[in-house]
Amino acid sequence: MTSAAEPTPRTLDVPAVRARFTALDRPLAFFDGPGGTQCPDEVIDAIAAYLRSSNANVGAPYETSRRTDELVAAAHERAASFLGCDAGEVAFGQSMTALNFLFTRALARELEPGDEVLVTRLDHDANVAPWLALADDLGIVVRFVDVTDELALDLDDLERNLSGRTKVVAFPAAANSVGTAPDVSRVVELAHGAGALAWVDAVHYGPHGPIDVAAWGCDVLICSPYKFFGPHMGLAFGREELLRSWRPYKVRPAADEPVGHRFELGTSQHELLAGFVAAVDYVGSVGWEAIVSHERELGERFLAGLPGEVTLHGLPTMTGRVPTFCFSVAGHSAQSVAEHLATRDVAVWWGNYYALETMRRLGLDEVDGAVRAGIVHYNTAEEVDRLLAGIAELA
Ligand SMILES: Cc1ncc(COP(=O)(O)O)c(C=O)c1O
Repeated sequence: MTSAAEPTPRTLDVPAVRARFTALDRPLAFFDGPGGTQCPDEVIDAIAAYLRSSNANVGAPYETSRRTDELVAAAHERAASFLGCDAGEVAFGQSMTALNFLFTRALARELEPGDEVLVTRLDHDANVAPWLALADDLGIVVRFVDVTDELALDLDDLERNLSGRTKVVAFPAAANSVGTAPDVSRVVELAHGAGALAWVDAVHYGPHGPIDVAAWGCDVLICSPYKFFGPHMGLAFGREELLRSWRPYKVRPAADEPVGHRFELGTSQHELLAGFVAAVDYVGSVGWEAIVSHERELGERFLAGLPGEVTLHGLPTMTGRVPTFCFSVAGHSAQSVAEHLATRDVAVWWGNYYALETMRRLGLDEVDGAVRAGIVHYNTAEEVDRLLAGIAELA
């Protein structure tokens, strides 16, 4: 991260940022960040450099292994600074989905039939299916917290669903389908008020704003570095006492300390840890203040320019959301809109985004779903205008 002596910039120098990404040096405008962002060259270089000069397994007394030990420690330190926790509370893994199955299984050893878990209609299935499987396996009860018609999280419905049997409230810090960013601290407060754990999916929030698990007070938070300019892997935080209280599924000789390591199964993806360190340093050098204000500006530009004939699914202003926009164009399938935009060198997704309950709540086809355009800080005003022009050709 940038040191205190080098204050991070408050406004974004977009050309300078883009010059750090070889991947952006092409006509295609990437609005597919919600599916995974591009990597700056420094991330790619760090991965290659590790494999060239430090490749080894951990714990041996020779040069490359020692370097790998240092890298593993540095990656946990960077993760701690990125998330606002202690390095020992961090676990890296294959993906958010894999880590969530792992954490939910460890907790499940303490659950009893009739215990309740709340999930929301904004969640990606990676924060729903692990709990539904436990309902099948153990007889726990999974309840869905509703959303308002504008797709804000319905906090009144959340309160109505809380009970003395609620063990977990699982929810997203931002919805990957429609961009809603619930008030995380408020949901944590409600969960804790009922004696439940607050279990945050921060995958989609990751590239859009600073995470602070200490300030938010959550018990578990899982995200994915490939959504914030890093390599394909998952990253989990668990509150230390909570992780200590679980019986992890692990092999016997693997170290029990630091406690997060109990949930890192087998040999880590060392080269990806090197890329992760570079990604966190990249974000630090750009600065959240500059990222947030640029994204907000582009989000407002998109909303102001969206043709009236297009149906936006979600909050109509930049308040309470990140700049991920889900929409339908009357008379056109989502797939055909995405295909049309691709011919204009605009990359967007179509489909359900694994947010099945959101699609059902919107009454959308569960396969075709809606179009999704996700803005991140490396996008430009010209790209947003090209996206809007492509949509206008159909609307
Ligand atoms: C909000 C959200 N949660 C969870 C996931 C799953 O993440 P992973 O691919 O790391 O398993 C995604 C992936 O798109 C997501 O957007």
